Amino acid sequence: MKRIYNDINLQNRNSFGVVQSARTLVEFESAEDLRSYFAEHKPEKWYVLGAGNNTLFTKDYDGVLFTPVSREVRVLEDDDRGVMLRVDAAADWDELVAWSVENGLWGMENLSAIPSSVGAAPVQNIGAYGAEAKDVITVVEYFDTRTLEVVRLSNDECRFAYRESIFKQELKGVAIIVAVEFMLRREARPNLGYGDVIKEVEARGGATLRNIRDAICAIRASKLPDPKVLGNAGSFFKNPIVSRGVADALLATYPDMPCYAVPGDEGVVKLAAGWLIDKSGLKGYRQGAVGVHDRQALVLVNHGGATGGDVLELAYHVCRCVKEHFGVEISPEVNIL
Ligand code: EPU
Repeated sequence: MKRIYNDINLQNRNSFGVVQSARTLVEFESAEDLRSYFAEHKPEKWYVLGAGNNTLFTKDYDGVLFTPVSREVRVLEDDDRGVMLRVDAAADWDELVAWSVENGLWGMENLSAIPSSVGAAPVQNIGAYGAEAKDVITVVEYFDTRTLEVVRLSNDECRFAYRESIFKQELKGVAIIVAVEFMLRREARPNLGYGDVIKEVEARGGATLRNIRDAICAIRASKLPDPKVLGNAGSFFKNPIVSRGVADALLATYPDMPCYAVPGDEGVVKLAAGWLIDKSGLKGYRQGAVGVHDRQALVLVNHGGATGGDVLELAYHVCRCVKEHFGVEISPEVNIL
């Protein structure tokens, strides 16, 4: 069953909390709902709005937004090695992670407390603390708006990379994800190599699933603003990937600059956009109703009453300052409409 809303206010449907509206919003339960809507209306301009955690509306949307509402979690297989799950697109990511931890299943714990729906997770291959959604996804099922058929893609076919997938490339404007399948394991596989994780886990008594989840939730809460309190979309920018030569030249001037290897490509390194923004003097910077978060410079925040345009202007300013200071281009991770 689908529900259709016209001229709908989106303020409570985007984590920035900007006041914009959409001409039409369709809540759908199944691929069948999508098929009947596309067959009847043939919408030309549309976008999938999940929980709205990674989208910035800079104007009223004059097309159709599709929002999934089914949230079922189904166990497909369960044996002594692990569990295969099928989860509907609207399920809350962190509720799923909490469920996996309670059931002794490894693989998602480092991705605790990421604000996302399950359907959005594969699109930008959400990641944190040395883990990515691609490490546990086996299949993504989507509705193809060209053929009106349901298609299943294997993990390889999704072409996951750092904050990337086929859904941001060839299938952008084509696919509407309806469900995601995961493989979680019973064998302990703690992944504690990133930043303060090991210290926080040890302070809690060692590498159990519960301790890892609690440690990650605490680290995130100490740096990242709660969107219910201060509108934001998590990291606004991607960490830029530059040639090793560019990184070496910067390291000569800034020996403490964080640099990360990019697996599979030795000629490039990933820099920390948050560090670059911070060292450009912008941490806590405020421009009217918007600002750069004072505990994590990668996050832009709505202090109240901002428009999407205000956020975008600040984003341009941040990109310009980083380019001036370091000669490095940073680009948004958030989808800008
Ligand atoms: N840093 C600063 N100042 C800042 C922010 C960061 O100096 O204001 C430094 C940190 O000290 C650290 C480095 O920059 O040395 C990296 O910072 P951090 O570990 O906090 O992670 P990040 O690279 O800023 C990425 C993800 C986050 C994810 C964290 C933890 C991206 C764009 N962001 O941030 O993801 O939670 O790693 O794994 O890759 C998100 O996508 O919304 C998100 C929050």
